[in-house]
Amino acid sequence: MVKICCIGAGYVGGPTMAVIALKCPHIEVVVVDISVPRIAAWNSDQLPIYEPGLEDVVKQCRGKNLFFSTDVEKHIADADIIFVSVNTPTKTRGLGAGKAADLTYWESAARMIADVSKSNKIVVEKSTVPVKTAEAIEKILTHNSKGIEYQILSNPEFLAEGTAIDDLFKPDRVLIGGRETPEGQKAIQALKAVYANWVPEDRIICTNLWSAELSKLAANAFLAQRISSVNAMSALCEATGADVAEVSHAVGKDSRIGSKFLNSSVGFGGSCFQKDILNLVYICECNGLPEVATYWKQVIKINDYQKNRFVNRVVSSMFNTVSGKKIAVLGFAFKKDTGDTRETPAIDVCKGLLGDKARVSIYDPQVTEDQIQRDLSMNKFDWDHPIHLQPMSPTTVKQVSVVWDAYEATKDAHGICILTEWDEFKNLDYQRIYDNMQKPAFVFDGRNIVNPEKLREIGFIVYSIGKPLDAWLRDMPAVA
Ligand code: UDX
Ligand code: UDX
Repeated sequence: MVKICCIGAGYVGGPTMAVIALKCPHIEVVVVDISVPRIAAWNSDQLPIYEPGLEDVVKQCRGKNLFFSTDVEKHIADADIIFVSVNTPTKTRGLGAGKAADLTYWESAARMIADVSKSNKIVVEKSTVPVKTAEAIEKILTHNSKGIEYQILSNPEFLAEGTAIDDLFKPDRVLIGGRETPEGQKAIQALKAVYANWVPEDRIICTNLWSAELSKLAANAFLAQRISSVNAMSALCEATGADVAEVSHAVGKDSRIGSKFLNSSVGFGGSCFQKDILNLVYICECNGLPEVATYWKQVIKINDYQKNRFVNRVVSSMFNTVSGKKIAVLGFAFKKDTGDTRETPAIDVCKGLLGDKARVSIYDPQVTEDQIQRDLSMNKFDWDHPIHLQPMSPTTVKQVSVVWDAYEATKDAHGICILTEWDEFKNLDYQRIYDNMQKPAFVFDGRNIVNPEKLREIGFIVYSIGKPLDAWLRDMPAVA
């Protein structure tokens, strides 16, 4: 029986391994992690991450051919194929600070593999890593090989949160990069055979190592670039009276461009986009390509601009101050159908409002108070460390309250900021909400999910990203 071990039971490792186990009943899959509570959660009825369909898949295979364990060394030693999907935070100090990936966890995973292995291994990079990481890992392994042969493969993950299980069941493509030697090709075939249990062969792309590593960064950079492009347009739409949704629709109808990923928003978040672009920028700089680096950096700058612009709109339209005013924040996750808050635009928006001394009342159907407090008091980039190694939050942010109901959040509020596109926010009783708010009552829709006309009829002053502005907002221009 082929044995697979995955180091890192996170958003990537957990769902990916669960689907491999489901689709390959003849393979034993063990997911290991240094975090005891995380593994305990994977073994319980309350899985550590929320992902539609995941529970069902886990329940079908757990205890049969899918196991979660903290006995990292044993399962690494037993495995034929080892996936590594541990954290790769952005460095906060030293060479490449603010841009380069910190490969501490990766390196320690590689050293552990070298220490405990007694048979040949295929080591698969699953975390997004900067190009040429495989080479570094290969060096660590071969310099400590004790006669064991290692093959390194890059098999980047393209799943998106909220649709992870569907993405894994029906991937657009599976990418496997490996060495161009006979041994490298053999390893590629071994991994291909795993995916071929459910993915059509023509969707499994085999490349060299560097192409696979770079393709992941490139794919995320292209996706993020589309959002920054449409968000840049949203500012122009507001200035000119065009409607960004109409512009996106018209542009997306061109089959060469396509309609996906053209929704204007308060900004993109998530664990990958910003980090991957920063990696890309750093790699370009290291390779003497400053113009290319500047080009990609602009995608992040526009994203930051969009978040700032949103906060400025809120503050300027409320008579240039939100000091002491209650602002309801609906949605904190970086997108709907996930409880994940990594790099969510809500963090920067809330920090901006708190900077102007607002009182912020937050409701998100999937995010806990503890998580929100941690996010609002953590330093930039600290989130991407295993939870027990994250620096402790200094204090809770007092001007923030977290409530479990949109009506509670909006009660007596002066304004509402919609920051995640949860479906339930579309169907709230806005008349009831309006009646319980201070007047004038404002709605700032950072996801374009409410119907501005209907809300205006109720009496709200409405700001929707990239849509023609209310007379009120036109009279109170925001300076970014
Ligand atoms: C992870 C990385 O965070 C991301 O940077 C990379 O691109 C893909 O892999 P994700 O699965 O979403 O993405 O992260 P997370 O949910 O934080 O899971 C990583 C897990 O690795 C954590 O549970 C952590 O405890 C574990 N880990 C980390 C180890 O088991 N060993 C380590 O040495 C470090
Ligand atoms: C992304 C990639 O899609 C995935 O392939 C990769 O493996 C990991 O990174 P994810 O971060 O889960 O996945 O979410 P995604 O759906 O890509 O959304 C990222 C951010 O962009 C979210 O904050 C989302 O709200 C925002 N977004 C997306 C927009 O603002 N507008 C859009 O049109 C689409």
